[in-house]
Amino acid sequence: MNVAVFGAGYVGLVTGAVLAELGHRVMLVDVDTGKVQQIMRGIPPIFEQGLPELLARTRASGRLEATIDPQAAVPEAEVIFIAVGTPPLADGSPNLEYVHQAALAIGAGMEPDRSYVIVNKATVPIGSANLVKLWIEDGYVSRHGEVPAPALFTVASNPEFLREGTAIHDTLYPDRIVLGADEDWAMERLQTLYRPIVAQAFAPPGENPRPHDRGPVPVIATDRLSAEMIKYAANAFLSTKISFANEMANICERVGADISTVTYGIGLDTRIGPKFLNAGVGWGGSCFGKDLSALIYTAKEYGYQPRLLESTQEVNNEQRLIVIKRLQDELKTLKGRRIALWGLSFKPGTDDLRDAPALSVIAELLRLNARLTVYDPVAMDNIQRQYPDLDIRYGTSPLGALKGAEALVILTEWDEFRRFSLGTIAAELTLPVIIDGRNLYDPAEAQRLGIRYRGIGR
Ligand SMILES: NC(=O)c1ccc[n+]([C@@H]2O[C@H](COP(=O)([O-])OP(=O)(O)OC[C@H]3O[C@@H](n4cnc5c(N)ncnc54)[C@H](O)[C@@H]3O)[C@@H](O)[C@H]2O)c1
Repeated sequence: MNVAVFGAGYVGLVTGAVLAELGHRVMLVDVDTGKVQQIMRGIPPIFEQGLPELLARTRASGRLEATIDPQAAVPEAEVIFIAVGTPPLADGSPNLEYVHQAALAIGAGMEPDRSYVIVNKATVPIGSANLVKLWIEDGYVSRHGEVPAPALFTVASNPEFLREGTAIHDTLYPDRIVLGADEDWAMERLQTLYRPIVAQAFAPPGENPRPHDRGPVPVIATDRLSAEMIKYAANAFLSTKISFANEMANICERVGADISTVTYGIGLDTRIGPKFLNAGVGWGGSCFGKDLSALIYTAKEYGYQPRLLESTQEVNNEQRLIVIKRLQDELKTLKGRRIALWGLSFKPGTDDLRDAPALSVIAELLRLNARLTVYDPVAMDNIQRQYPDLDIRYGTSPLGALKGAEALVILTEWDEFRRFSLGTIAAELTLPVIIDGRNLYDPAEAQRLGIRYRGIGR
């Protein structure tokens, strides 16, 4: 099938490359010339496990290309994905301007006498499919001078659930595929597109083997509004689950219980499950905060006060700064203190800094006049590029970042950090204070070594 994907970011690039791997012909369209050139040269513009190999194979096969010219992608495409960013505006609603621009370009690129399924893969507010339809019509009118025939195109919804860090694995072996379309022919086309994944009828790539218990992938074929809502409800639930674990951690600390044992104990209950129960410095990333704000905004548009969702957000905002309170407890004033920070990305396995707790912690520590040295295995280039004026220093290694620091704050649970024993870390610090925002270490071991160690909820 001929596929076009607007937006070659974390979602668009991975989706496009995987579809090309499965035999479809894919044209990625992005407004970022640098990104397009990198992809054409087979260089991944983002850090993602398995992407260099996937990109090399699909580029060599001739089935994956990238362009800045919508006209080179749209006319021949049977399915067109919109996978551009939908970042939050100040009022919490998502900025749909990139979706708007992509929809206009798609409309202008469409030829009469064909049929197109345009798929919202970006996370867009419930009801946006109607808006996208209007914008596509506007684009078509701007080029053809008349509205398109009703059968020329339809807008469907196919929300994305991939996780950065395991994005290719999640696309090849998803828990489910959600398809929202109001016309049968569009639903059938999407089912055909995804058949290899649904039936798991492809040779798994060496770097992303199929899990041995992987069966056929469930498809939820539904209306567009329900599909859009499934995405928001999923992210609202997951962020609430983490905020719940953090609230339990805060109570554990007060009563003297250990959150690790408590979450293990509740996670074994199959009604609860063990995932997304790690207490820490809170959730971040490009999706949870933005999608939660958007859902709250939508609910309020209809006069409904989503109290549970608002609390999820509040708990998270406070949780991020818990490490500052811990530092103040241990060091009193933070003015002129040398503090090392391990971890910048919002989770391991990605270089993505969007809404990362580390950014809130860094801003607050700088406001309190601390001197910071940071280390992250992959996100340091990004922070230097995106925040060139931040007054922080960069370590060349995890231990290098500790030299001369009084305290270490751990913000991302990279495996690389687990390699170092508490003793090794303490030997590099002038005062052995460790604030472990991800509960990587054993408090009893820290106590035995005479380290002033503070985890979360323990
Ligand atoms: N990142 C994730 O883990 C994830 C997971 C699920 C859903 N989503 C959703 O998917 C969408 C995309 O997220 P992302 O993380 O891939 O974003 P991203 O910022 O990594 O990528 C977006 C890309 O769109 C390009 N773009 C902007 N305007 C364009 C236009 N008019 N035409 C073509 N390209 C254009 C940008 O240059 C950029 O490369 C968002 O709505 C997000 O909420 C993201």
